[in-house]
Amino acid sequence: MSRAETLNRPASTHPLPPPPMGLLAELTHRCALRCPYCSNPLELDRRDRELPTAVWKRLLDEAAALGILHVYFSGGEPMLRPDIAELVAHARDVGLYTNMITSGVGFQPAALDAVAEAGLDHIQLSIQAMDAETCDRVGGYAGAWQRKHMVAADIARLGLRLTVNAVIHRENAHQTKDFVQLAEDWGAARIEIAHVQYYGWGIVNRARLMPTRQQVERAMADVEEARARTAGRLVIDCVLPDYYARYPKACMGGWGARLMNISPAGVALPCHAAQTIPGLAFDTVQERSLSDIWYHGAAFNAFRGTDWMQEPCRSCARKDLDFGGCRCQAMALAGDASATDPACSLSPLHKQIVALAEAEAASHRSDFIYRGFQGAPKPQAERQMVP
Ligand code: SF4
Ligand code: FES
Repeated sequence: MSRAETLNRPASTHPLPPPPMGLLAELTHRCALRCPYCSNPLELDRRDRELPTAVWKRLLDEAAALGILHVYFSGGEPMLRPDIAELVAHARDVGLYTNMITSGVGFQPAALDAVAEAGLDHIQLSIQAMDAETCDRVGGYAGAWQRKHMVAADIARLGLRLTVNAVIHRENAHQTKDFVQLAEDWGAARIEIAHVQYYGWGIVNRARLMPTRQQVERAMADVEEARARTAGRLVIDCVLPDYYARYPKACMGGWGARLMNISPAGVALPCHAAQTIPGLAFDTVQERSLSDIWYHGAAFNAFRGTDWMQEPCRSCARKDLDFGGCRCQAMALAGDASATDPACSLSPLHKQIVALAEAEAASHRSDFIYRGFQGAPKPQAERQMVP
């Protein structure tokens, strides 16, 4: 079989998977913030390519019929869509649990009241740092710090269930404890301490974001201490920077296993970065139903199960736990999406990855390449790992 045939093998070679748990509805790529680690693609969908309200409503109907439980309204900044309250109300009407993933910036306070009134179940608010200057600089938006605090107060006033999202990197890893305190102060039920994942804009800025191993160890110790202190009051989820980890993360809970990601223009993706894998054929929601794409779409079937794995994953006892790590990271770092994720200590490339991370962490670069519709220079660093 050729490489393209392998990636686009028909669904009949797989048993049907269970339905997805969640639909990540990327309503727009527009966003007031310009975070240098954004997971959106380097080539963003412009406003005139965004799906109209009627199509999103049809997708929410299809999602509920397929057995999906959660919808995550995301972006970009989903609150920039003028139809956001209408979509939240529709999702509720068809029985979906509604989540909003917001930066808190760029929309009028009344929009938040409207989504609360529409029945929004849960909101996730990001914060870029624990001091105003770094927060505004990382987000590329003057006044973001102040604005986020105002939105947090509105969320409390509206009684919305809150998760705080703190993306961790070299410039804020020392603030881990303070992020947890902020989540408590804001009345959050949960905080995500999410170390940057190096794809999308993150890989372009890797040398500017990579923490040192010592920073990571300190941050992890802070998380453990905070967990003991806040047990029963606050859930603290933590995503490690896997270049320093022993084993990789189970990216997306397994390829085509738990989530469907719909881009603003209607491309159905198994993960944020799937379009960085050459040879995959992606379906659009304009052409096929969610159910048809989930069960029979070539891209969703490309890395389901374990048949596609190479050694050392193929004979590894952890293959059903981490699914060989992240396919997009394997593509970026090993040049082969079906290789063992080089973040795994069992990968033959792992030592090179760790050396690369340590060198980049010591680089002291802080000249962020900000996310934007202008695109980004082609990442050079990732190519260092292609044999
Ligand atoms: Fe996971 Fe593959 Fe590493 Fe085993 S070899 S731990 S399955 S990535
Ligand atoms: Fe695509 Fe991990 S981001 S599989």
